[in-house]
Amino acid sequence: MAILVAGGAGYIGSHTALELLEKKEDVIYLDNLTKGHKDAVMGGKFYQVDLLDTEALRKVFRENEIEAVIDFAAFSLVGESVNEPIKYYQNNVGATINLLKVMQEAGTKKIVFSSTAATYGEPENVPILESDRTEPTNPYGETKLAVEKALKWADRAYGIKYVSLRYFNAAGAHISGKIGEDHTPETHLIPLILDAALGKRESISIFGTDYPTQDGTCVRDYIHVTDLANAHILAVEKLRRDHTSAVYNLGNGKGFSVREVIHVTKEVTGLPIKVIEAERRAGDPAVLIASSDKIKKELGWNPRFADLSTIVETAFRWHQSHPNGYEN
Ligand code: UFG
Repeated sequence: MAILVAGGAGYIGSHTALELLEKKEDVIYLDNLTKGHKDAVMGGKFYQVDLLDTEALRKVFRENEIEAVIDFAAFSLVGESVNEPIKYYQNNVGATINLLKVMQEAGTKKIVFSSTAATYGEPENVPILESDRTEPTNPYGETKLAVEKALKWADRAYGIKYVSLRYFNAAGAHISGKIGEDHTPETHLIPLILDAALGKRESISIFGTDYPTQDGTCVRDYIHVTDLANAHILAVEKLRRDHTSAVYNLGNGKGFSVREVIHVTKEVTGLPIKVIEAERRAGDPAVLIASSDKIKKELGWNPRFADLSTIVETAFRWHQSHPNGYEN
């Protein structure tokens, strides 16, 4: 039986699909390629399908025996979601609901869902626990929380079991250098710093230097994309084993400020990086750090690339070998 990876040609989806292939799982990639890259598909079967296209989706479920779905397909830019909430609700909620409908028709009862730290909004505690208040401060976080709630009711009504993984800051690239992060536009800190180091952009702007943190810049919990990928595999195994649903945070439990990330990137690359101090970006919480104790305890998750310099090093290798991303 196969595992369907929706959004499999995207950043985290492609890393997860590759880990599944390496574990000899039967992988089906599904992606509409609006954000994903065909060259990130490393094996298995590929369908260019949009989750909103119910008939095409039904056909995928008819042609394959799908045991479980891992759903990465979503828009994920916080700023864009504030300006275009309908686009986000349609794509992130509408499409996933459609997927659930087709899963229910086909009798597929396991789903691992890509959720986010943005479901919490301004944190109540540091580190953040799964049981903490969820009050998103942007439509992106709202759409992910809406799906989590739909999953809870789909479990009750249809027995579809889910694991929802709330990622903190995904970063880095596959250790082989074969796949990595390629977003257009790029908005994430580490790839932008690397672009500045490699001369693809003039400088890196620090968004806000007056936060109540040790050096005035925002603190985030960076997690290697392969460690994230492995958590999805553990989640599928959990669903196979005990047929119960769960929500887990995924981070390293350690925060780094924007200045610290720039410093580590300078050390890793040995290249000069021009830094500009800029205004705050709207909607950025000062500190986001995960407690991942629950997934460590319950699923035995254990990050292999927890060190920030290793995370940056793998990203650097990808950026050096793919200066134009997948367009090489
Ligand atoms: N930052 C800069 N300069 C830049 C880009 C980012 O200073 O050019 C700062 C941001 O202000 C933030 C930190 O670097 O403080 C990290 O920013 P990213 O954009 O890399 O990541 P975010 O923390 O904003 O976003 C992540 C995920 C989102 C998720 C969000 C939850 O990428 O999907 O956490 O808050 F929604």
